Amino acid sequence: MLVLGIESSCDETALALVDDGGVRAAVISSQADIHALFGGVVPELASREHARLIGPLLDSLFRQADLGPESWKSIDRIAVTRGPGLMGSLLVGVAFAKSLAMAHDIPLIGIDHLQGHLLAAELEHDILWPALGVLVSGGHTHLYRMDGPVDMTVLGKTIDDAAGEACDKFAKAAGLPYPGGALLDALGKRGRADPHLFPRPYTHNDNLDFSFSGLKTAGVLWLSQHADAHFPPGDTPARERLDSASQTLCDAAASYLLAVSETLTIKTERAMTLFHPESIVVAGGVAANSVVRREFANLAEKHGIPLIIPPLSLCGDNAVMIAKAGWHMAMAGRVHDLSLSAIPRGQTIPQDWKTL
Ligand code: KG4
Ligand code: ZN
Repeated sequence: MLVLGIESSCDETALALVDDGGVRAAVISSQADIHALFGGVVPELASREHARLIGPLLDSLFRQADLGPESWKSIDRIAVTRGPGLMGSLLVGVAFAKSLAMAHDIPLIGIDHLQGHLLAAELEHDILWPALGVLVSGGHTHLYRMDGPVDMTVLGKTIDDAAGEACDKFAKAAGLPYPGGALLDALGKRGRADPHLFPRPYTHNDNLDFSFSGLKTAGVLWLSQHADAHFPPGDTPARERLDSASQTLCDAAASYLLAVSETLTIKTERAMTLFHPESIVVAGGVAANSVVRREFANLAEKHGIPLIIPPLSLCGDNAVMIAKAGWHMAMAGRVHDLSLSAIPRGQTIPQDWKTL
């Protein structure tokens, strides 16, 4: 079973080929540097870039996999991210996938981007089911009960900002460019965390939802009161002059990331009282964070179950995870027809597949 995966939900255009043995080829183009000029993703620009890049990227994918035009008949499914994401960006990928499916008579499968993130964890280690899934990305923070690769139930989610958004806003207020999460991580590694500096918001309740807006406000307020915690402006890229950050900023970054991580682990541990997971899966862009990885490793060890987490290269948006999710959907006999719709952020992904 060979599956072509297509991802274009936000600011990465990506394509991948996954077969029964794993990844055959993968290409990705990030628009982060373009959006950094505006301090965040500009939806209109993102859609235009996807439309410009997606065709040439398909050529590179085929070259990488050593496939020619006659090889379409070896591709069994076309899997595409249908949501959640930016509507214009999603439509580029969905329309492209439909054209390929129609031209080459290949069944189409629409993929939930968030479930794709969780399945990226499976590319290096087997997930033990049922698993507790923690999806932490720029736009989403969801807890899942994962009974199988195509059987996931949302247990809780953020009621306002996502964990990644909270990191990016703090980084921006500290003078770092968008998206600042990874830069904040690099600074935090040089700092000492004060566990009392920032709150663990919305944890004194008995639900499984998150709220990061209070932490974000506390962080931004603290930065506004500490002039020495600002990253100095300069002409060279921030990642090349991280050494110029003050110790105050590095310590604040470490403290902030600890607050984000513990807010996540407190609710995850609460979810473990609902059922007994055999493993914990943490995925999404924020799963690349070193403090998040360490705190979840501690939690998993405390409960004597494995932590399954994607390699750093597959934490952020990519098409390997979409192709892998498509592979599982194909194994379950699920397909979509050409009326497949794109679903924007905030709306539930419908279970409108057909079973072969
Ligand atoms: O999953 P992703 O690539 O895109 C979405 O689907 O949102 O996640 C992007 C988010 C951004 O907020 C980015 O700053 C954050 O992941 N991120 C990190 C790190 N690497 C990426 N946050 C904290 N530490 C990191 N090392
Ligand atoms: Zn994502």
